Amino acid sequence: MKKFILTTLLFSLLLCFAFAEPINLKSPDGLISLSFDLNNGNPTYGLNYKGKPVLEPSVLGFKLKDINDFGNKFSIEKSESKSVNETWNPTWGEVKTIRNQYNELTVTLKDNAPKAHLITITFRLFNDGLGFRYTFPEQENLQHFIVENELTSFNLNDDHKIWWIPGDFDTNEYAYYTSKISEIVSMAKKRDGAIFTATPIEGAFVQTPLMAKSKEGIYINIHEAALVNYPCMDIKFDVNSFEGTTTLASDAVGNKAYIRAPFQTPWRTIVVSDDARKILESKLILNLNEPSKISDESWIKPMKYVGIWLEMHLGVSTWDYAGSQSASDAGSDGKTVKKTKHGATTENTKKYIDFASANGFGGVLVEGWNTGWEDWFGKWKEDVFDFVTPYPDFDVKGLNQYARSKGITIITHHETSGSATNYERWMDTAYRQMNAYGSNALKSGYVGKIIPRGEYHDGQWMVNHYNRAITKAANHQIMVVAHEPVRPTGLHRTYPNFMAAEAARGQEFNFWSEGNPPEHETILPFTRIMGGPMDYTPGMFKIKKSYYVPGAIEQVHTTLAKQLALYVTLYSPVQMVTDLPENYQAKQDAFQFIKDVAVDWDDTKVLLAEPGEYIVTARKAKNTNNWFIGGISDENEREMTVDFSFLDKGKKYELIVYKDAVDASWDNNPEAYKIEKMVVNQKTKLKVKIARGGGFAMSVKMQ
Ligand code: NOJ
Ligand code: CA
Repeated sequence: MKKFILTTLLFSLLLCFAFAEPINLKSPDGLISLSFDLNNGNPTYGLNYKGKPVLEPSVLGFKLKDINDFGNKFSIEKSESKSVNETWNPTWGEVKTIRNQYNELTVTLKDNAPKAHLITITFRLFNDGLGFRYTFPEQENLQHFIVENELTSFNLNDDHKIWWIPGDFDTNEYAYYTSKISEIVSMAKKRDGAIFTATPIEGAFVQTPLMAKSKEGIYINIHEAALVNYPCMDIKFDVNSFEGTTTLASDAVGNKAYIRAPFQTPWRTIVVSDDARKILESKLILNLNEPSKISDESWIKPMKYVGIWLEMHLGVSTWDYAGSQSASDAGSDGKTVKKTKHGATTENTKKYIDFASANGFGGVLVEGWNTGWEDWFGKWKEDVFDFVTPYPDFDVKGLNQYARSKGITIITHHETSGSATNYERWMDTAYRQMNAYGSNALKSGYVGKIIPRGEYHDGQWMVNHYNRAITKAANHQIMVVAHEPVRPTGLHRTYPNFMAAEAARGQEFNFWSEGNPPEHETILPFTRIMGGPMDYTPGMFKIKKSYYVPGAIEQVHTTLAKQLALYVTLYSPVQMVTDLPENYQAKQDAFQFIKDVAVDWDDTKVLLAEPGEYIVTARKAKNTNNWFIGGISDENEREMTVDFSFLDKGKKYELIVYKDAVDASWDNNPEAYKIEKMVVNQKTKLKVKIARGGGFAMSVKMQ
């Protein structure tokens, strides 16, 4: 178990009815204040930052099914507060040590029903924002019940600029919209048809993590932490008052959550700062999750990996044995069946294992190794895969042995096609087979409409399914990367074998749809990645698809140098080295950065950031004195100044800069880059030009 340095100052007061409302609480640095109030028996909360309103009084509470008098005229039963100031060390992460410092207020409310009900609300106010959750304590009059709706609101009270994706219970794979709150409905009409399973909610609905910026320059990020046994939250805005209200993903019969008291909901989180960099550096969501439940963590290892993956997305090989299932075919018109060749063969997998081994990468992802792919796409069929039977041209046992002999793990792919019931039946057998063969990492996938039919990706049933898969995998000492799961909420602190998730629009969209605009990766860290690492799959060197498919217009909306930068700006302890081995072999000098860059860090400094525009991040590689820096821009070219004052005083560092060539741009000349070497120190300030849709990467080695 982790050792906690705990300096907890505990002061608790028991006040019945007597004290004056509202109750106020301040953050440890005094800059954020919370105000809790009972307005005619209805609980509300409001939030201020540096004296300016962040949330005007906002609603708290629930509507419970068939318990109509729940919440009728609440009064305060008891109220307690305490302060905590401690540090802890994540198993892997962006920094070595995390400070968990907050002031807490816990209010227990009792309603006026003939058979009274109790509910407790716990507020934790950190220097970087607020987390609060509801607890239904054990009580006689409320035992098993159904949540019809959570009433929690976020009253932003002004027409803020927001970075958002449409409310949807099945997918997060949208490109981002940037607009005012009042413009959500008109903007959401223009939707991209490339998402396989979308269940958009009509109206001014958005997903979290939601990034907002007020006219006064206050950045506000709304999300949730520790989503366990409860549905995921979307937000519906009133476009006149700018109050956002919780909408929970429902289940097959329209209910939201089945609860047995005692029960705690996920935390609702509001990260606040007037400095965008502080939003990215916030550890509030992690702090609100439980410490690791895995006692022996020695087998959990951050890594870079290669894979039999891009080939299928480009349409040059297929998942299925017969050679007709590639993403490009499915993506372009959904009908064309072009015969090509099966990707996951023994011979091809060996080639990738050798490539990983020659370049120091830890894993080889193999997709299309198991039977079922001929049947997988869009059929809503229950038993498609068994997760254990290889195609005849894939020697599952021999390849695992070969990989292991080189210190590499095969990342076993489990595409469920959305049939969670089928996966539940196979999970134990499949994980046992992985143990037997020596594969200790798995990539799961949930493309398609969910089975049990009528359930959504984001409902309580599926939230429990994803968490069950992670905990079962932990019991088998297997690391998990999940695609198409519910969006992460910091649970990787509790289950550090949950390495990364997709749960957003990944690089793959660039291969078979209109793709991700150049601003996309400058928004992801402010939105999706607030909840946890993303398996984005960076590192593309061949930017235009026409190289493989004559006449194809798809491309990655990036320069090559920006692809290098993403290894630093998009945090994940597992990073794919996405492009085909031959494309790296052709550009060894730029490939060197991908070989060198770390995936686990002792420190992180966000040097410059504005959502939708640019991000420059510096990270210090674990147990070294070396830093890596990534800088990215949206569709605009810019000159950025990197200030090296974070380096150690009096030391010299060798700097290698990988940057856009002067004539590079994402659309016209994306692969042109330049590499420069120099010596820098703590006083250096270096100007770097970024092309349109470009970026730069730096490695900074202490001499
Ligand atoms: C979608 C995933 O995001 C992608 O990585 C995977 O290759 C396909 N599904 C097939 O499972
Ligand atoms: Ca996906």
